[in-house]
Amino acid sequence: MAGVRAGVVVVGSFNVDHVWRATRLARPGETLAGTYSTGPGGKGFNQAIAARRAGAEVRFVCALGDDAGGALARELAAADGIDLHAQASTAPTGTAGIYTDDAGRNSIVIGPGANAALDALFVEGQAHALAGAAVVLAQLESPRAAVLAALAQARRAGALAMLNPAPADAVVDAELLACCDLLTPNESEFAALLAAHGHAVIADEAVAALDDGALHALCRALLPRGTVVVTLGGAGCFVSHAEPTRFGDAAACARIQAHPARVVDTTGAGDAFNGALAAAIALQPQRGFGTQLRFASRYAAASTEAPGAALAMPRLRADA
Ligand code: RIB
Repeated sequence: MAGVRAGVVVVGSFNVDHVWRATRLARPGETLAGTYSTGPGGKGFNQAIAARRAGAEVRFVCALGDDAGGALARELAAADGIDLHAQASTAPTGTAGIYTDDAGRNSIVIGPGANAALDALFVEGQAHALAGAAVVLAQLESPRAAVLAALAQARRAGALAMLNPAPADAVVDAELLACCDLLTPNESEFAALLAAHGHAVIADEAVAALDDGALHALCRALLPRGTVVVTLGGAGCFVSHAEPTRFGDAAACARIQAHPARVVDTTGAGDAFNGALAAAIALQPQRGFGTQLRFASRYAAASTEAPGAALAMPRLRADA
């Protein structure tokens, strides 16, 4: 893939997900009976699998422990044809405890483990891995310095620097934002970013109800030179460009409807969207961004129709 701008490099987390499903989510102090399952996850790995199953050549840069979880990551990456570049850590491989309910909702607590050891120097040492990429995609379950190194290298290599600022409680400072060409927060992450950078205080659930002009202005304040895609769950997503013609779109901002789905489990739906969008941009850069967003939306909807995170990613090509 070196020298060919057809690839996606994902820099991020791998977790072993431990999932309990009950009819509803437990309240604080409550005990419920449900069913247990386990499988691969982590926002980084989920996004890497999504990009791969959407048809892109994918490299995944991460940190793994020397344990069964690390072996699982290597085995699954190989099975899907993902080129894994893992920093070896003495910490255990990352884990996540996930509660899901019959409405498809979830709540998640992560144990970062080896993910917290991902080193900026290791990421910088992957310059050869980033060199041919069209898109470098990172999230915030990895240390800030490693994410910054990935985005800065993307810029140097002429790749699109894409940040999914998840989870919402992670800190995104001005230096990180300045390295982003494309930022993809969900409603909570968008509200948290606006508040942290002094632009506005808005309740998460009020974001989708803002009119296009107000949303566009807030996106421009947050990322004056880049593109922002705010994912709005069942309300679809909103895109705001610095320049109207960026990525072939005719308008500076637009709203894209959500794709219908028979929802079983929404865990990893945001990851599905990000991985699929990165793949669509890498595979067909000549297509308008609106087309790529509609594909990502369809891909994310399909991912909710099966249980689990990484293994729920559908085989649905962006270039079909
Ligand atoms: O976005 C879903 C993911 O968040 C899960 O797979 C879990 O591992 C946490 O990282």
